Amino acid sequence: MKQFQSDLLVWYDKKARVLPWRSEPTPYRVWISEMMLQQTRVDTVIPYFMRFLTELPTIQDLAEVEEDKLLKLWQGLGYYNRALNLKKAAQIIVSKFAAQLPSEKEELVSLPGIGPYSAGAIASIAFGKAVPAVDGNVLRILSRLLASKEDITNTKIKKELEEIVTLLVPAERPGDFNQALMDLGATICLPNGEPQCTECPVQTHCKAYKEELTSDIPVKSVKKARAIDKKTVFVIIAEGKFALRKRDEGGLLPNLWEFPNVDGYLTQKQSEQLLQEMGITLKQIQPIKMSKHIFSHREWHMKGYFVEGEVLSSSNFTWATEEEIRHQYSIPTAFKAFMKYCQNE
Ligand code: ADE
Repeated sequence: MKQFQSDLLVWYDKKARVLPWRSEPTPYRVWISEMMLQQTRVDTVIPYFMRFLTELPTIQDLAEVEEDKLLKLWQGLGYYNRALNLKKAAQIIVSKFAAQLPSEKEELVSLPGIGPYSAGAIASIAFGKAVPAVDGNVLRILSRLLASKEDITNTKIKKELEEIVTLLVPAERPGDFNQALMDLGATICLPNGEPQCTECPVQTHCKAYKEELTSDIPVKSVKKARAIDKKTVFVIIAEGKFALRKRDEGGLLPNLWEFPNVDGYLTQKQSEQLLQEMGITLKQIQPIKMSKHIFSHREWHMKGYFVEGEVLSSSNFTWATEEEIRHQYSIPTAFKAFMKYCQNE
């Protein structure tokens, strides 16, 4: 075990990815980075992280930020509940923890948006606690090290593997150890039969390598297929402004702005009728390209129409200029393909 820890850390000292939250691992910075990294790749996160810290440099700033500003800072990262949870957690930290992030994993998991993985990452990286941070990458690494053919999506197996990782985390440099595992999973011990074993610093500890089983491990039961939602989306321009609508508080993409849309695929005739009912007098309507957006559990397949019209006073939409759409309203990436039609010409 000692040799494994040392081999991994020696490699990390040479090869660690240079990342902004690593050079200055304050609790606030580590927390924000971990929330952004939960479902988003490192390369995508970096510019968002830098901008977020410039705009909201302290926990106090985050606790007081206007929701629209927060969502705008998050626009494009997806999984917007992460942003809303950040603000909720910041308010709790200010009121219950004297504006200091708690240092124990058990306290951290009590905060909105922080699960066991993020709590382990924050406690170890920011506070030097010897606790594990186990995600899918770490489960893959460990099951290969042990040549375990157990299903890593199974809750009981996950728990067992987590207990083993707990024993592996060293009392010294636990944060670096956890991040070394993250880097190993991201650059060497890759999924889908593509591990770079010749480059691996812990190859001599790996039973799957020895037994030529790296392509068969980890074993994962097949995931359920994603549900498919069919939609019809309208990009509507009237008097130089585009129609937007605010999404509901609950459910997917809460409180973000969207182009008006309905469930199901509508024909042009059906669309014309619906738009009239919504208070739009049509001058022109034409179909635009289909677009698809994939969430973790669902897919949106979207048919679209570009509509030029006149607004009747009964219309319930918010009307925004191209400029406002780009800089002021948070429109989720799911609608990105339709944004390009928002041009005054
Ligand atoms: N993914 C999640 N946390 C990370 C970190 N601290 N460094 C690199 N990748 C990560």
